[in-house]
Amino acid sequence: MTAFLHPFARPAATDFLTLVRGEGALVFDDAGRDYVDAMASLWFCDVGHGRREIADAVAEQLRTLAAFHTFDRFTNEPAERLSAALSARAPMPGARVFLTTSGSEAVDSALKLVRAARVLAGEAHRRVIISLEGAYHGVTYGGLAVGGLPLNQEHFGPMLPDVVQVPRDDPGAVARVLAERGHEVAAVFAEPVLGAGGVHPPAPGYLAELRRLCDDAGAWLVLDEVICGFGRLGHLWGAQRYGVVPDLVTFAKGVTSGYVPLGGVLVGAGVRERLEADPTYVLRHGHTYSGHPGACAAALANLEVLEGEALLEQVPRIGDRLSAGLDQLVQEGYLAGRRGDGAVWAAALHEGVDAAGVHTRMIERGVIARAVGPSTLAFCPPYVITDDQLDRTLAALRGALQAS
Ligand SMILES: Cc1ncc(COP(=O)(O)O)c(C=O)c1O
Repeated sequence: MTAFLHPFARPAATDFLTLVRGEGALVFDDAGRDYVDAMASLWFCDVGHGRREIADAVAEQLRTLAAFHTFDRFTNEPAERLSAALSARAPMPGARVFLTTSGSEAVDSALKLVRAARVLAGEAHRRVIISLEGAYHGVTYGGLAVGGLPLNQEHFGPMLPDVVQVPRDDPGAVARVLAERGHEVAAVFAEPVLGAGGVHPPAPGYLAELRRLCDDAGAWLVLDEVICGFGRLGHLWGAQRYGVVPDLVTFAKGVTSGYVPLGGVLVGAGVRERLEADPTYVLRHGHTYSGHPGACAAALANLEVLEGEALLEQVPRIGDRLSAGLDQLVQEGYLAGRRGDGAVWAAALHEGVDAAGVHTRMIERGVIARAVGPSTLAFCPPYVITDDQLDRTLAALRGALQAS
């Protein structure tokens, strides 16, 4: 047994795969074997592995000013430049940027910013958060409580109160909660494409309808773009893909492609104006590494790669090839279905076929996908994945299903 207590793993587990190197959409283990990373690691390595320009930007920053906190009056250039760059690219006008080190912290920050803004606006009674069944919003208590995956909450209760969950793609369910308790509702949380809960794109018009319902009820719409942000759906933000203007956006993962941990919240005008209204108010929330210069340097370099190489233009190619390959497997009877959007897709397995087993057999065939739930395999490759590597992914899935 190793000293490292692994996240999302059996504490009693003893068999691990040690990865030592990455390049593009490939990673290599300690025996020199290569694997197609068909999941961008854990939905994050959008620009691919082994990018020297990001490593160099971080090293250069660490040599100059490795870290200094940003509480109170302190700031640093990378944090300021990154915030300005993200604000300029935000899916809503006039956003400011709150920085964290992970997606979970981003979600908890969004929850706290929403609540603080409500209290500051004299609306302390607006505490209720509406969120979607099946949603994944991270593992810290705030995000866990608004998340909709009961297995993840098991053994960790009690959860935060004042959360109301509704089925996804059912605007009527949201409308009913708002009709009954609208005056208590602070915000509605949603992932543009529900990711870890099984890769479910929204029904046509669903997010626009959520926006409309929020507007009518005076609730804020918070989009959790930890997976969808930074181009996964072919636009920089999922909000843009589905034509909605959110009040807040949480992000992480693709902001640095994982080279250094970083997350944050885009804080739109409605919330920020309430936070700014009283010049004596102090926002007592933040993390030691909020605005860490090295992490922000990684994000700026990552953005340069994304835009400099026009990587979002690769998304339709990836989506077309993956979905066509999955369609073929559906037609041949190997899969029950497929779903997805942009460069994030899922294979729905037939009843009785265990996703964890298929995942293992794919690894034996040199491809890393991800089991999300008992009967779904997810695919979310780096934007630099080649057609050959996509075909290798589909061939490994076919082989794994044939062996199941
Ligand atoms: C939509 C969403 N929100 C939040 C999180 C939590 O991010 P982190 O694992 O960086 O805390 C994730 C992680 O997968 C996510 O997919």
